[in-house]
Amino acid sequence: MTQRIGTVRVFRASAALRRAAECLFIALAVFCLPAGAQSWNTSGPPPFLGAAWYPEQWPEQRWNADLQLMEEAHIRVVRVGEFAWSTMEPAEGRYNLDWLERAVRLAEKHHIAVVIGTPTDAPPAWLTTAHPETLRVDAAGRRAQHGSRRQFNYANPEYRAFCAAIAGRLAQRFGHDPDVMGWQIGNEYTDESFDPATRRQFDEWLKQKYGTLDALNRAWTTAYWSQTYDLWDEIALPTGGGNPGLLLDYRRFVSDTWRSFQQVQIDAIRRFADARQFITTNIGGLGWSDNWDHYEITRPLDLASWDDYVGEGHLNVERNGAMHDFVRGWKRQNFWVMETQPGSVNWAPVNTTLDRGETRAMAWQAVGHGADAVLYWQWRDALNGQEQYHGAIVGPDGTPLPIYTELSALGSEFERATAALRGTQPVAQIALLLTYDSRWAIDFQPHSKNYDQLEVLLGYYRPLRERGLTVDIVEASAPLDRYKLVMAPSLNVIPADLAAHLLAWVQQGGHLFLGPRSGMKDEHNALNIERQPGPLVAPLGGRVEQYYALDASVPVGGEIGSGSVSIWAEQLFTSAPDAVVLLRYGKANGWLDDQPALITRRVGKGSITYLGAVLDPELMRKVMAWALHDAQVKSEFPVVPAGVEVCRRLDADRSVFVLINHGSAQVRVALPSAMSDVLHDGTRVANVDLAPHDVAVLATEAR
Ligand code: GAL
Repeated sequence: MTQRIGTVRVFRASAALRRAAECLFIALAVFCLPAGAQSWNTSGPPPFLGAAWYPEQWPEQRWNADLQLMEEAHIRVVRVGEFAWSTMEPAEGRYNLDWLERAVRLAEKHHIAVVIGTPTDAPPAWLTTAHPETLRVDAAGRRAQHGSRRQFNYANPEYRAFCAAIAGRLAQRFGHDPDVMGWQIGNEYTDESFDPATRRQFDEWLKQKYGTLDALNRAWTTAYWSQTYDLWDEIALPTGGGNPGLLLDYRRFVSDTWRSFQQVQIDAIRRFADARQFITTNIGGLGWSDNWDHYEITRPLDLASWDDYVGEGHLNVERNGAMHDFVRGWKRQNFWVMETQPGSVNWAPVNTTLDRGETRAMAWQAVGHGADAVLYWQWRDALNGQEQYHGAIVGPDGTPLPIYTELSALGSEFERATAALRGTQPVAQIALLLTYDSRWAIDFQPHSKNYDQLEVLLGYYRPLRERGLTVDIVEASAPLDRYKLVMAPSLNVIPADLAAHLLAWVQQGGHLFLGPRSGMKDEHNALNIERQPGPLVAPLGGRVEQYYALDASVPVGGEIGSGSVSIWAEQLFTSAPDAVVLLRYGKANGWLDDQPALITRRVGKGSITYLGAVLDPELMRKVMAWALHDAQVKSEFPVVPAGVEVCRRLDADRSVFVLINHGSAQVRVALPSAMSDVLHDGTRVANVDLAPHDVAVLATEAR
């Protein structure tokens, strides 16, 4: 108590001193903790079924009934604590975590593990009132105010000190708790701040990076439009367009700033937490948001997790599957779905509900793509607050809503599948490369409003998944040895070191397939002087002569097949005699007529292929068939009926297939060999019949 009062007094004097006092207090307190707490029972699931539970919103007498209902639904994990700062620290330095301890103990009685969220997306009113500079400033210069969430300034050192203090207190109390399996930092990092202090941090960041203004001016070609900088603090935070070099560096700065914001809490938690407790953050933006680099943010975390929402309408099977594969690619390991909708959301234009059975199918899709937990948001809607219309599992009266039955059946299935799935993960022979530099570079200057990078990526992804092939989506600098075929649909930024990395893998036998807009830019978002694909022009033995944004489709054909090109077409040219043209444009704008659209060349033990066009889906299927054959990618499941999604997870000894019928008719799937039907007592089966939305989990003894 004395120490707490002391902490408060010190803080009023200075934030830095407060930080020091906090650390000392925490360091002293750690000696008082019980040693050697038990690990979370690792013989249990995955996959875990879970829910977001906010006990602070409900009378304590109610908690047991909620947890009882959860246990009956086979819910094995709850996420608690995020947004509960005003309950955890009702006044500065006055911590109140006893209620959370009681909630964890009650969950334990119901065999439910806990993930604690740090409450740092929802600073209490006392904090931001006393320290208004902890509130972020938007691009128009307006300071945020209390009453919503995410109003904090991610770059503000004082706010970070408060975050470290609350995260440290939580970890000190729960870091050895056997029922706490992990930590979630904040919630869906979203908004940056445009206050003057953050601007100074950006200028300092640039100084660290470039050393001299001469180097920066050169990298950004600031002679253009007299943009030359003479002083570091002349450089503003971009609030709209700007020099492409500046824009790209700003996005990197934002990523770095979120990373250091997060690191403060990682450090505060790790000081106390058992190694077995994971640290993650739940990434939002439907997986595809690009305010900051998801690879960079997940690198220091133990686990990648994301919030998987459909919003309006129904599951978009390929988009959602690709997002799971992308999340798996952030750390190149299995992940968690930290939030998903129990039927419906409250933020779509029309908040439709998933059909009966579709929520279950969506959960199994996540598991098939490598999720080890699926948590629903949320258990029960708060009686008031901004999200009263959101889907939930129990109603305001605390009794089950219709979705409860579907989720409880799902929970029972997860338990039946535990033994088969434990230790397994998707393993791919193919990777799609996706880097933020390239995404940002294209989005700053799309050149055609119709060039949608996600759609272009899905144009590659769909035909691969139609064949039941596992696809990784990873950053271009990732180790590639495990892949036979690597495709880069819009890899706009290819600096020399990245080209060398890709080329080394090609020399050893890799098949690199570059898509449109590849290799146009270097690391400063400046044009590569070789033209596209930049430093890979020489090994490709060809290049892009000119690119064209299309307003009408153009015919294309060759030995692979024929079809049409829309949105984007690049006129290719071969300089090496052994570069082979596989597709040519037909009659188009005159410039493209009869020019190469797809070229390939053997390089070392592998090959480089360049496709300069967005092809129609039918021709894309044929091109993918050619690429798979050329790279000798093996089939993973012989024949995949239309509408059925096949996912495969492996360990050293076995394959587990998750089959999901996303179609509207019943289908019979013939299996390549007899397999055990995991959801039906392990019976050996040669075929499975799948009704719409139905799922089969099938295990084999061999990989
Ligand atoms: C997420 C957020 C949750 C909740 C949910 C509603 O983005 O993390 O706290 O607001 O949306 O769909």
